[in-house]
Order: sequence, then C-alpha cells, then structure tokens
Amino acid sequence: MAPEPRRENSGPVGPPLLDLTIDNITPNTIRINSQSENARLTYLLSRLVTHLHDFARETRLSTEEWMKGIEFLIGCGKICSDVRNVSCLPLHEFILLSDTLGLSLLLDNINHPKPAGATEGSVLGPFHTHDAPLLENGATMTSDPAGEPMLAICTVKDTAGNPIQGIKIDIWETDSSGHYDVQHSDRNEPSERCVMMSDAEGKFWFKGLKPVSYPIPHDGPVGKLLERLGRHCWRPAHVHFMFEKEGWDKLITALYLRGDPYETSDAVFGVKKSLVVDLDKVDKETAEKYGVKEGTWLLRQDFVLTTQKETEELRDELAKEALAKLGLHNLKLVDHLPVPDLD
Ligand code: BEZ
Ligand code: FE
Repeated sequence: MAPEPRRENSGPVGPPLLDLTIDNITPNTIRINSQSENARLTYLLSRLVTHLHDFARETRLSTEEWMKGIEFLIGCGKICSDVRNVSCLPLHEFILLSDTLGLSLLLDNINHPKPAGATEGSVLGPFHTHDAPLLENGATMTSDPAGEPMLAICTVKDTAGNPIQGIKIDIWETDSSGHYDVQHSDRNEPSERCVMMSDAEGKFWFKGLKPVSYPIPHDGPVGKLLERLGRHCWRPAHVHFMFEKEGWDKLITALYLRGDPYETSDAVFGVKKSLVVDLDKVDKETAEKYGVKEGTWLLRQDFVLTTQKETEELRDELAKEALAKLGLHNLKLVDHLPVPDLD
C-alpha cells in the first residue's frame, strides 16, 4: 500500500509528542495509535503497548537484552516456513513459542470455557494434518507393527447426557518411536491418524497404539530457549482428538496416560487432570466383539461437548467477571470481545 502523500506545511499532524520520557511515552504512544475506526484494534494495541512498556520499565530492560530478544524473534521467523528436518509440514516456530510459554493453552481456556462435566480442551500442536483418511468405526488407524496395540471405545454426548450423532472426529498420535508420520521424510501416506464420525449412539471406536512420550521439535530458537531455561522438551504420552459439527463448540483436546514421567511437566502445558486417563486391558467378550486380542490395551472415554451458544454465554459471563476483577470497568463486549465503552 502506498503511504499517504506528504502534507503541505500547515501545522503538525496528530497530537504533540515532544520530549517523550520514561513516564509519558506510554500514553503518547497509545494516543497516536488510537486514530483507527477499529475499536478492537485500538484497544489491543493500547494494552499491548502498556504491557510492553511496563515490561521494559519493570525489568530496566537493557539494549543488549532487547537486541538478543529481537535476534531470537528473527531466528523464529527464519525457521518458520522451512520444511524442517523434524517435519515435512511447515513448522511454525512462533506457535511453538506460544505453546511453550503457556499462551496457547491460556487462549484455549479463555475462548473455549467449559461448564462442569464438559470435556476440557488442550493444545493443538503442529502435527494435525488435513489428509487423514475417513475411516469406518472399528478401523485400524496405524501401520506401525512395532507399537503396542490399543483399542479405543469412546462416546460423544452433550452436557445433558444425550448422544451426539455425526460429529466429525479427527484423531492423531505418534508411532511407537514417538514420531508423527509427517516427521518421517519418506512419508507417502498418512498413518497414525484418521477421521471418524460418531454413530447414532454417539459412539466411535478405533484401533491405534498405546501412545508414547516424545520431544517437541527443539531444533530451533525455542528449543535453545528451553535449554537455557533448564527445561526439557518432552510431552507426556497422549492421543489428540478434535471434534467438529455445526452448532457445537469445536473441541480440540487430548488424552494423557496417567503415570507418565512428564505428566506434571509437559513442555507445552497441555495436561489437565480431567484429561489424564488409565488404560485397561480388553477382556474376552470385548475382544470378540471388537475383533482384537484379549489383553490388548483398552482406552474408554466419554467426551462431553458444549453447544456454541453455551460456550458463548459462558465466555461472556467469565469475561465480565475477569474484567471486573482486573478493575477494568469502562469496557463493553462486542462480538464477545472487550472494547472501551465510549457511549
Ligand atoms: C503435539 O502434541 O503434537 C505438540 C503440541 C505442541 C507443540 C509441539 C507438539
Ligand atoms: Fe502430540
């Protein structure tokens, strides 16, 4: 976009911004950023500038430290669109940064609050793909002969306990070596992933693998940062699930195996108590019914979804509570998002 043409010398443009100091640069920056018609953009920028400036004031941020920060961000940008040696998908380092700083989970909690009893969300991660095959219930979604087989028998219900038919469920996990299919450079078709539809009883079931723990991609600046922070880069064993149907709040979640050494120190903060599960072993009757060997690992899970309306109402209620708690009173919600109330 071309810049606006140079103006004739007919007085200053915008508010006076002379002699900016540590103490007045913030309101002045916010003033000059507040010329857009877009109230939400103006509000976001005003809060971002406030927190960024406070961060610098509070930490007495040194120029060298900020340059290191900028170099870190440049490093994240450079590695972003590359096909990485850990994945043949583009791997977004900034998403990894958001995940490892806990921001991704925080946003999911804010945007998809759950009433008691509903299944909680977890982090999406970078390994969901759009080429997973649609499989019939009962199908095998792995081609890894080395893994420990696991039968999963699940239901999807609403908060009143009614089954939900026709939910599209994306399921993905690593192979037994702790790699997603896209992390293998010789991948020529999807594996350890599928899409299923819930039946009239809200049921779906599949044959997969007992999940294993694995490290998140750590070949970039985020991996180096974790190392500098004395953090490990492991995720506890889990299977990802994503539920979608018109009128229902999209649920992105995962189930985590109890007792995993990384259960309480997940590199991306995805674990919630309600998502930690115990595996069982398939008995003789279930083995015959589902066509697996007796003694196979068994995952049983009932997922509970909320409607879009339920989620929006809860989200508004919690937003109002949170803003009041923060002492931010002159705000209103527009499209479920706060903006200054100038009326
Ligand atoms: C994952 O579970 O696949 C994942 C999540 C966040 C970052 C990296 C990986
Ligand atoms: Fe994962």
